[in-house]
Amino acid sequence: MAAASNVNENVSENVNESVKKNVNELVRAEKLVAGGDALGRLADGRVVFIAGALPGESVMVELRSDKRDFAKGVAVSIVERSPSRVDAPCPRIAQGCGGCGWQHALPDAQLRWKTDVAADALRRIAKLPSADVRAGGAVDPWRYRTSLRLAVASDGTIGLRAATSHRVVAIDNCLVAHPALVALLPMVRVKGADEVSLRVSVATGEMTAWADTARASIDGLPASVNVGAGAVIHELVAGVRLRVSAASFFQSGPQAAELLVTYVREACGDFLSDSHGPLLDAYGGVGLFAATLAAPTAMPAIVVESSAASCADAKVNLGEGAQVVRSRLEDWHPEPVRLVVADPARTGLGADGVAVLGATRAERIVLVSCDAASLARDTVLLATAGYRHGGSTVLDLFPHTPHVEVVTRFDLV
Ligand SMILES: C[S@@+](CC[C@H](N)C(=O)[O-])C[C@H]1O[C@@H](n2cnc3c(N)ncnc32)[C@H](O)[C@@H]1O
Repeated sequence: MAAASNVNENVSENVNESVKKNVNELVRAEKLVAGGDALGRLADGRVVFIAGALPGESVMVELRSDKRDFAKGVAVSIVERSPSRVDAPCPRIAQGCGGCGWQHALPDAQLRWKTDVAADALRRIAKLPSADVRAGGAVDPWRYRTSLRLAVASDGTIGLRAATSHRVVAIDNCLVAHPALVALLPMVRVKGADEVSLRVSVATGEMTAWADTARASIDGLPASVNVGAGAVIHELVAGVRLRVSAASFFQSGPQAAELLVTYVREACGDFLSDSHGPLLDAYGGVGLFAATLAAPTAMPAIVVESSAASCADAKVNLGEGAQVVRSRLEDWHPEPVRLVVADPARTGLGADGVAVLGATRAERIVLVSCDAASLARDTVLLATAGYRHGGSTVLDLFPHTPHVEVVTRFDLV
């Protein structure tokens, strides 16, 4: 047993006001759960969610919230240490920065645990005890983020939110951000907005800055940074040049986008062919999947996307070969297709999204989920619509955070 060591200040600074008692108890962390905490059991049998603990560790837990059925706490010291534990290299974590919750774990272990979280959700929520869930790839653990959404402090400087409060932690460096964005951090001053988004293209070096409100002003930037909703970068993914407006969604970086395309392509299998068209790229953003998977094979595509900025980009990126429909998927009138790629926001497809996808009678649906619980809920809804879970691959597109990305194949039975 290793000597007890103190866990970083980050977790112990956040005192929950619903604390009834301030008790320390030795707990063994069994596994990690969605959101990033570890799950263990108190001596009285209740589940406790522990911030800062890793699977297999024995930790001293200080309870911060103590309910009838479960409790929440923080690991204030590690009594038995996981071999996957490392010292978080970023000093800003000790200052409370909430950007990276898992820097204290080895990257390989992070992907393994994310895979466990997805398998656990499918087991508990979708009642699939032996679902095929495997670990796929991960992006480089450092400097991978080419888009950053930052919080604005009252003096106009920018930073990241603290782990469990709205406090803005000033950052002059960020170990997961692209160096070109890091260089901007001390320069930017924002008025009239709570958040600002910075983005850089790895392919061209173009940069954008944007705040989601008309009255915002963003100052202090070099003239080379394009400012405002209409500002664009061009990025290269799987050999395809994509225009991405500052107001459009893009993955954590081109490496993440490329990895996702690789695994989505694999999940689409033989359905990716012009004779099987069209591909429905649902929640299609700037047309990432239609442009990289359908267009090169001359397969026609339909992109359904609710954001005006993303639709404008998708039209440029896809040209004549695709139909870009600006609509919420739930409001789109379904057309018959054989293959769907659907990449919804964290809430997942939900009943309305599944109803629309089911009405296309697609033979294969490839679902990209960024939340394990919503994947499991969608799996249940898709099963009711006649689609069988055919295997999930978990990717790590956000190393050092608990954020999961899961590519799942569903087949019409
Ligand atoms: C996770 S992003 C994926 C975008 C794209 N597939 C990509 O990988 O770059 C989800 C996208 O869905 C769009 N969106 C959100 N809600 C939607 C809805 N109800 N119907 C259609 N699109 C929606 C967002 O604007 C965003 O572009």
